[in-house]
Amino acid sequence: MNIHICKETQELEKRVALTPDIAASLLKDGVTIRVESTAGLAAGYPDEAYKASGVEISSDRETLLKDADLLLAVNAPSNEEIAKLKQGSTLICYLWGLQHPERIDALKNAGVTAVGLEAVPRISRAQSMDALSSMSNIAGYKSVLIAGNLLNRYMPMMMTAAGTIRPANFLILGAGVAGLQAIATAKRLGAVVEAYDIRPVVKEQVESLGAKFVDIPLEEENTETEGGYAKEVSEKNQEIQKQVLHTHAAKADVVITTALIPGKPAPKLLMSKTVAEMKPGAVIVDLAAEQGGNCELTSPGKTITTENGVVIDGPLNLASTLAFHASQLYAKNLKSLLGLILKEGTLTFDFDDEILKQATLTHNGEITSPLLTSKN
Ligand code: NAI
Repeated sequence: MNIHICKETQELEKRVALTPDIAASLLKDGVTIRVESTAGLAAGYPDEAYKASGVEISSDRETLLKDADLLLAVNAPSNEEIAKLKQGSTLICYLWGLQHPERIDALKNAGVTAVGLEAVPRISRAQSMDALSSMSNIAGYKSVLIAGNLLNRYMPMMMTAAGTIRPANFLILGAGVAGLQAIATAKRLGAVVEAYDIRPVVKEQVESLGAKFVDIPLEEENTETEGGYAKEVSEKNQEIQKQVLHTHAAKADVVITTALIPGKPAPKLLMSKTVAEMKPGAVIVDLAAEQGGNCELTSPGKTITTENGVVIDGPLNLASTLAFHASQLYAKNLKSLLGLILKEGTLTFDFDDEILKQATLTHNGEITSPLLTSKN
């Protein structure tokens, strides 16, 4: 059996799906691994490192696609490339099937078994396969570095001969994986941090990191799905949130926003009138930029400065900016997932396993995951 890895083609993408060390460990299963030439270079893994691990290097992308028994990637190939994949082959990468039904049709029509990493359930047994968490963790960390870079003041308290500097005040909105890492990183750099999440269960986690939780009493409403994700709340409750956050944002030096609701545009938490009340020089880093942003003024992929001097950054694909470690963690997540599928050099899918049942989006020319079929 052969495992192929092609160079990622998306703009801003520097990650590679498989690192030389993880490739070496997979080779022990008796498989052949081929990597497209320079696929790992932008992440810090040159062709020589793969060769030293026993991986073959190829410059023939077409053949790598056509002949792969198992294609590993970070981002989904284009639909044209999916059409070239061998019938009965397997593709594992981010697929975002709900958002890209045309991609799922292409995979179904090509007869490819497609496993979407975003669809791996967030259960304890699957933690080592949870690429969303690995990448969100990086984004949360990097968001604080970006804020520090854009900020016109210190983050920690400084006691100098010229006087004492007060620490910066951070407000983190959304305390999932990225938000919690942003809190931890900002605390390490000496900032004073408060955080808010719509799921009350998060309060304890926020406090355990030494941050203050912003309590916003909402009108009676369940804000969490059975799967532990946030739900979209009523307009009344959205209004209550915005009003309380307005006061906290006005006092903050940095606001990092990470709030997401699966399958929906990012909730708007910071409105123009709030930004207008913020201090000149204050910084907003909007990690939800890819999903439209949590701030009304965010321009995805850009850094803008408002008339009152607030800097708003809407970064895209932050995980890719730490491509070396992002690739290492991603490859480890893939290896854990392959532990369920790759047995003695062959691929076997046990659909009684809830991880594979949910994450396998297409198989044998059909759409299989309940995540997609229950919507159809
Ligand atoms: P996410 O990226 O989907 O959302 C980020 C955060 O935004 C979430 O904490 C969410 O509650 C919050 N949010 C959404 N709307 C909001 C609003 N209007 N105001 C304030 N905050 C808002 O979340 P992520 O990081 O992917 O985590 C999702 C869930 O999965 C969490 O419950 C997390 O604890 C859980 N999880 C479980 C794992 C496991 O047990 N294996 C691993 C990782 C996450």
